[in-house]
Order: sequence, then structure tokens, then C-alpha cells
Amino acid sequence: PFVVTENCIKCKYTDCVEVCPVDCFHEGPNFLVIDPDECIDCTLCEPECPVNAIYPEDDVPAGQEQFVQINAELAKGWPVITVRKDPPPDAKDWEGKTDKLPLLEK
Ligand code: SF4
Ligand code: F3S
Repeated sequence: PFVVTENCIKCKYTDCVEVCPVDCFHEGPNFLVIDPDECIDCTLCEPECPVNAIYPEDDVPAGQEQFVQINAELAKGWPVITVRKDPPPDAKDWEGKTDKLPLLEK
């Protein structure tokens, strides 16, 4: 499956959700995750993310391996999102920032 990683935290542009043919994106307060049990590896979402937060599970950036488990766990409790919405007003300020994991709201 594909995995949403750290760059999405507090950016949450949601461009990714509309292309998913199996509606496997789930929405939290400031982050999105992919349900690994539903993702069919179609690859369509990966180029949609303006901050390149989406990777195949086997290609997650070094140091971000924990996001594989984070996607799997949070997808169980968060609602599905299929329609794009406005990003947070300060999304641009958070693009490319590192160490955002402590800011992930659950
Ligand atoms: Fe959805 Fe395809 Fe992305 Fe998987 S790879 S989350 S099926 S758009
Ligand atoms: Fe996040 Fe990128 Fe989607 S910022 S919400 S993974 S378009």
C-alpha cells in the first residue's frame, strides 16, 4: 500500500483524496492516512500531493518508517474523506518542516 508521511502534518492539502478509486483516505484533525487494507497500489495519489507526502510502503523516506504503522492504526478510527477541502490557513508555513510528528493530532 501507499503511506502518508510527515510532510502532510499541518499541510493537509487533500488534493490526494479525489483521485483514489477505492476511497481509502481517512481524515484526522491535521493529517490524512491511507487504509493499507483498502489501498490497491494504483499510484494515482502520489503525484497529486503538492508536498510529496505520499510514498509506496517500501519507499518511505529513512526515519519515517513509523508512518507505515501510523497509517494502519489511525485509518481504523478516522472517517473516510473523498472530497477536497481548503487546507489549513497556515499550511504553507509548514511545508517541508521536519520533526512534525509531535504535532500530529489524533
Ligand atoms: Fe488510493 Fe491508489 Fe493512492 Fe492507494 S495508491 S491510496 S488506491 S489513490
Ligand atoms: Fe496530505 Fe498531500 Fe494529501 S498534504 S492531505 S497527502 S495532498
